[in-house]
Amino acid sequence: MSTALAYHQASAHARNRIPGRRINWEDQPIPFKMYREGVKYHLPQELALPDVPLDRALDSRTFAPKADMPVLIGSVCYLAAGLTRVRTQADGRTFHFRSAPSAGALYPTELYAALQNINGMNDGVYHYSPLEHMLTPLRQGQIFSALPGGEPIIRFYLTSIFHRSAWKYGPRAYRYCLLDAGHMAENLVLAARSQGFQATVDYDFDDAFINDFLCLDPEQEGCVAQVHGLNCGPSTDVYDTVPPLSDNFPEYSKPSRRADVPPQVLEAHRLCAAKAMGSLPPVPPPSPDAVRLPAPELQMSVAKALRTRKSSRNFVIRETDPKRLCNVLACICRGQPENPLAGAVRTGFLANEHSGFAPGFHLLDRRTKSTTLALPGNYMRTSAQVCLDQEWLENAALHITFSADLARLESLTGARAYRYAHLEAGRLGQRAYLAAAADNLGACGIGAFFDDEAEQLLQLDDGNHLLYMVAVGPVKK
Ligand SMILES: Cc1cc2nc3c(=O)[nH]c(=O)nc-3n(C[C@H](O)[C@H](O)[C@H](O)COP(=O)(O)O)c2cc1C
Repeated sequence: MSTALAYHQASAHARNRIPGRRINWEDQPIPFKMYREGVKYHLPQELALPDVPLDRALDSRTFAPKADMPVLIGSVCYLAAGLTRVRTQADGRTFHFRSAPSAGALYPTELYAALQNINGMNDGVYHYSPLEHMLTPLRQGQIFSALPGGEPIIRFYLTSIFHRSAWKYGPRAYRYCLLDAGHMAENLVLAARSQGFQATVDYDFDDAFINDFLCLDPEQEGCVAQVHGLNCGPSTDVYDTVPPLSDNFPEYSKPSRRADVPPQVLEAHRLCAAKAMGSLPPVPPPSPDAVRLPAPELQMSVAKALRTRKSSRNFVIRETDPKRLCNVLACICRGQPENPLAGAVRTGFLANEHSGFAPGFHLLDRRTKSTTLALPGNYMRTSAQVCLDQEWLENAALHITFSADLARLESLTGARAYRYAHLEAGRLGQRAYLAAAADNLGACGIGAFFDDEAEQLLQLDDGNHLLYMVAVGPVKK
């Protein structure tokens, strides 16, 4: 494989070919990274859950952080990556669901934080354990150049343990790892804003340096995004990496024991390692027939939306107040893109009858916050068939689509754009999930589809590929 596009094509599903793996239940990965050694830092049990409405947090306005710093850090970690629901399985074991969804509930994403000048905590790099709501220090000492006023500095890192997802999905897993991390990145941004500070997602960093900085095993896991938090930005350089507290961290962490990661996944990750170059040409203006969406009104707090979000599949065809579905679409369009490649992802949606939109495929222009009917007709049944015959999808009000011209992106900016596009699609998908939760609608991410059939259904131009879908609509109560 010499391009990210070649990886995408090699991991495509077709009716006669679903690249996956024979699932070995004996070898099911543990979805928690646990460092057996080292002094743990137990985050305060108290959580700060301010009543900041979701629509306001999406708008990127901030206020001064109020919570005590360790409470604030614990709350952001919990809201972004924490355990929100528990289910007892048939075998009596408990299964934990989280604030961020994950393809197949395999949870490949891990959360790390670099902290400086936090009251009551040592400066250093930490790993967050959602199971114990605890931080494990990996390096201790000054990480960033000190700020003149001694202000606190917070940066988060999202990494992927590839085997967790590849155990079930084989070569296609890299797509899911990126989409999953995108969901969590959006959680981090919104959780930070709910606490009163700005956070920005950054996909462009030196992979080798950051992987080493986080004490990762590059054959098993990799950093896929960093999120600049309090008093931190892309130019906040790591001043000193200070030596790790152990020489051999990956071995302490059970899930990163030598596991068999498909070569296509590692190769795709390596292909995307070079930093992106160049930028995208301006997008043509939307059609004059475009219909503007009203601004979203979602009063549910970010914290509640994050804690109650879940995947629902029991969609029902029911007349819905069109304002509710417009709210979901408007949330996807809210705010200004943060990075030069944000426009890489094209958004659209298939609308069902009774959705309030004309049945058909609509383009969703995020810059102008408007929709244009591109292909009239009811395609919900065909779309459900395209999604590996997941029949329940037929009753959803909308199938929101995220696609990108991967060939053009890669030729203009390099293979790293592949990561950008999937992470960005995951971020936007998370907005759909949260807006649905805030509006009492169901939502479910869909990463499983026959790629060729999806491209035909949506009549995507040459080079354009479907990356992800999120189904949204009323569900059975
Ligand atoms: C990238 C991605 C792809 C997904 N694809 C599917 C899918 O094709 N079919 C499905 O039923 N659920 C899919 N899901 C939903 C997950 O199964 C769900 O998030 C997981 O079981 C955890 O449950 P929760 O979202 O209720 O917390 C997907 C989720 C993500 C993030």
